[in-house]
Amino acid sequence: MPDDDLHERIIDAANATYGSHGGRRALHAKGSWARGTFTAAPEAARLTCAAHLRGEPVEALVRFSNASGDPEAHDADRDGRGMAVKLRFDGGETDILATTSPAFLTRTPEEFLELISLRRPDPATGQPDLEKLGAFLAGHPESQTAVQAVIMSEPLASFATATYFSPHAFALVDAEGTRTWVRYRWHPEAGERRKPDDEARDRGRDYLHDDLGDRLLAGTIGFELRLQLAGADDPLDDPTAVWPDERELLRAGRLELTELIDDPERDGHIDVFDPARIVDGIELSDDPILRARPHAYSVSAYRRLGRA
Ligand code: HEM
Repeated sequence: MPDDDLHERIIDAANATYGSHGGRRALHAKGSWARGTFTAAPEAARLTCAAHLRGEPVEALVRFSNASGDPEAHDADRDGRGMAVKLRFDGGETDILATTSPAFLTRTPEEFLELISLRRPDPATGQPDLEKLGAFLAGHPESQTAVQAVIMSEPLASFATATYFSPHAFALVDAEGTRTWVRYRWHPEAGERRKPDDEARDRGRDYLHDDLGDRLLAGTIGFELRLQLAGADDPLDDPTAVWPDERELLRAGRLELTELIDDPERDGHIDVFDPARIVDGIELSDDPILRARPHAYSVSAYRRLGRA
């Protein structure tokens, strides 16, 4: 049974840290939307009977975002960036959510609540209590990969020049019931590029979102869906633990974005991206973070609809 109160408390903590912004997401509040097509490669269809991985082109709705809950965040801030993809096909839809960090911050939603609460700025100083934050991180060495990925990486040059990772394991299931455990990542066809902090800051608060629009006016943006195949002993339920680099990366398909679109969320309509929205041929792992996310996203979605 999900602890519904826990998910409410996580969103309360996000709102306390970043402020409540009517109609906006509690996290990943600043975003831009694009549309395109995803076409799976034959290698994917061999591993699963999932409808979107059979090889026919399917419609893609994509939202690029800044991980912060502040809709006015500067695009040069050292923070994660998100890429949420919704694939729609006859009879269904499924979502793949990824960020620029190869690992998540915590193993459990309870620890995430603790961490996000510690990031709340003290009204007197405008800064979080760095001593307490440091003590949390010292007690949780598994958080280091995600912290380093965010703090040590220079800002993106463009949303189109980053790799986006999903830290959860999903099983691809074929017609015989054989399971292949994988993690998703979106690899940019334009290559990976970052910018020095000052250069990024000089490009202006919304430079990543402006750049996305410019690129899509001038042409298309491509990403390859890659599946990292789990080794026999790789953890399937720990999003803080990256799998070794030498694991096979299977090319599973190509996403081509063709146009920037206006935020489709208006007049009571919202589009929620949910990593647990899967279809036949895909299964979720028992990762506690993956299992918690749909509940927290619902709380955030209800609040932005003004219903909670
Ligand atoms: C317990 C852990 C987590 C919590 C509580 C959490 C919470 C949230 C919330 C509240 C939102 C806004 C949802 C909405 O209003 O529709 C969100 C968005 C998002 N989260 Fe998480 N998250 C968690 C873990 C992760 C992880 C592991 C990833 C890595 C892939 C991730 C990637 C994203 C992305 C890409 C979005 C933006 C989705 C969009 O554009 O609508 N989150 N998260």
